[in-house]
Amino acid sequence: MGGEVGQLRKYPVGYWELRAQCRVIRVVIANHRGGAGKTTTAVNYAWYLASRQRRTLLIDGDTQGSIGILLGLHPAHSFRDFIIDGRPLEECVIPAGSNLDVMCGGKELVQVESSLSASSSSPELALDARLQSSTQSYDAVVIDVSPAINLLQACAIVYARNVIIPVSMDLLSLTGAAAVCDMIAVLNHRAGGTLKIRGLLPCQVDQRLGITKVVYEGLASVSGLVGVQVLPPIRTDQTVQRAWQSHRALLDYAPAARASHDYTTAFEQVTQEIEGSTDEQKETGTEAV
Ligand SMILES: Nc1ncnc2c1ncn2[C@@H]1O[C@H](COP(=O)(O)OP(=O)(O)OP(=O)(O)O)[C@@H](O)[C@H]1O
Ligand SMILES: [Mg+2]
Repeated sequence: MGGEVGQLRKYPVGYWELRAQCRVIRVVIANHRGGAGKTTTAVNYAWYLASRQRRTLLIDGDTQGSIGILLGLHPAHSFRDFIIDGRPLEECVIPAGSNLDVMCGGKELVQVESSLSASSSSPELALDARLQSSTQSYDAVVIDVSPAINLLQACAIVYARNVIIPVSMDLLSLTGAAAVCDMIAVLNHRAGGTLKIRGLLPCQVDQRLGITKVVYEGLASVSGLVGVQVLPPIRTDQTVQRAWQSHRALLDYAPAARASHDYTTAFEQVTQEIEGSTDEQKETGTEAV
């Protein structure tokens, strides 16, 4: 009896009904400019999905290893070990909350570039099959990447098919966002147009600053040129820093904070769009690119 109660407690009311409606969500959070809000967005999107009963994997594809540092994680093995040593995914993840596992990055990921480029005649496909088969037990995979153009990022995008581009309120962040759009256009030639930018996400927005209006005008023109929507903005909020100091996602630490409210609004919109898209509905995990 006690065992049965224990089993039931593992799953909140409505869990299986929700799971039945779930489709796999895979997203890369990218901007070639540093400090755009990638890691903050990636950690909180993973938290958001996990808190909605999706078994979620958050992957840190950044040599800075920010996610492990910010969440205070000390895994035995990392993303580097998964790629280079061929370790099973289960050995390379560490739990970071209910429904949430993290595969950490770090400086060892610099070894990965040469390994990926040597491994295939189509290097951007080098991780696709392995990640697809290894992540099948997850309902959602969110990948944070470096502020740079590299092969690991291209591999992550080809695997995930969906990209969110955070843009902080400076002109170089806008340039970094445009560079990601260009990269995806190039990759899409080989991916048959299956790679989708799900939105430009304005981050650290303070409407009182003149630069905000300038960046918003730039966002509107990138949006028009590339045919990508601008998502609802995330306002500047010092609670983001306080959450990191406590090694927690903002949505976990302060769900009522204004940036939590903003992130939830943006994540609801983007999740509905990914779920509603035809590509994801017929997701089999084996579709050729
Ligand atoms: N809405 C916000 N309000 C205030 N500070 C924020 C907000 N979002 C992010 N920050 C802060 O801005 C800084 C950069 O954010 P973050 O680390 O998420 O960017 P990044 O794009 O991952 O950076 P990098 O390119 O170096 O990996 C961090 O100190 C973060 O705490
Ligand atoms: Mg980062």
